[in-house]
Amino acid sequence: MKKIAVFASGNGSNFQVIAEEFPVEFVFSDHRDAYVLERADKLGVLSYAFELKEFESKADYEAALVELLEEHQIDLVCLAGYMKIVGPTLLAAYEGRIINIHPAYLPEFPGAHGIEDAWNAGVAESGVTIHWVDSGVDTGKVIKQVRVLRLADDTIESFENRIHATEYQLYPQVLESLGVGRR
Ligand code: GRF
Repeated sequence: MKKIAVFASGNGSNFQVIAEEFPVEFVFSDHRDAYVLERADKLGVLSYAFELKEFESKADYEAALVELLEEHQIDLVCLAGYMKIVGPTLLAAYEGRIINIHPAYLPEFPGAHGIEDAWNAGVAESGVTIHWVDSGVDTGKVIKQVRVLRLADDTIESFENRIHATEYQLYPQVLESLGVGRR
């Protein structure tokens, strides 16, 4: 049985979808007040939270993460709204075992504002991508991606909602394809 951990910085709606369908060993947040931690409590999922600023360096912060991942014998780290770039310490220990979801059709619109950037560019379609994490920002090998249309009567809110709804379908599909067993 593959053991997964989810990293999320804020809201955690993707975490919630994953945890409802798959056993999640733990969720980590880099913000102690993130809403994802409340979701974890309600779902009975173990959670950890600590912040980069509590450490001397990003290397020390990531060493603490690696320790957690090793202690729990995690096979796959699922980033879902984790708003930090994965640094060399975490990559050295887990490259090839970290995936990320991005709310655009990579390599289009990488970075922290994929939905807004696609909207402002006036595209006819954007999408959702799940990819392996490497040292770049949203540059790793694509595992699966799907298109999401921008409709004529869309507002940025309706466009964003359709992208999120697509994310909630894609993450479970990809986990299943990677051999993660459902609950
Ligand atoms: C998602 O759109 C994800 O693709 C992006 O950040 C957002 C996180 O949302 N990386 P949530 O925290 O899962 O609700």
